Amino acid sequence: MAKTITVNGTSHDVDLPGDVPLLWVLRDELNMTGTKFGCGVSACGACTVHINGEAVRSCQTALEDVDGDITTIEGLGTPDMLHRLQQAWIEHQVAQCGYCQSGQIMQAAALLEENPNPSDDDIDEAMSGNLCRCGTYPRIRAAIHAAAKGA
Ligand code: FES
Ligand code: FES
Repeated sequence: MAKTITVNGTSHDVDLPGDVPLLWVLRDELNMTGTKFGCGVSACGACTVHINGEAVRSCQTALEDVDGDITTIEGLGTPDMLHRLQQAWIEHQVAQCGYCQSGQIMQAAALLEENPNPSDDDIDEAMSGNLCRCGTYPRIRAAIHAAAKGA
């Protein structure tokens, strides 16, 4: 199917089977490799992107079902103007191997849009579907609090 999708404010014409997961459209067609493949079954969160500001699992979102503007980690901030979460992630040295972190940040960004001042419980609930085999959960929580406070 031919379809025009908007990613990080730019329109792209793609012509692929409708059941191709958005994850592979982003990575293989558009060369946006910041979004990661982890499990492929909506169980890890590594592939999280936003559609119209809502966090979605791109591994389980078919191209034919994409309805709205897509934001990936590449479009969340810019090298000159990092998103406040990216800044907090650096300051709290959250990343270890880093593989899960773009998904973590995209999930956290959606949380802060919905809840600008989340509690520990709010964070744990919102982030519970994003797995980190390096165990960075305490730093993720600290960085989200810092970003929420504008630190
Ligand atoms: S790769 Fe999509 S949730 Fe794991
Ligand atoms: S930082 Fe290694 S999996 Fe999360």
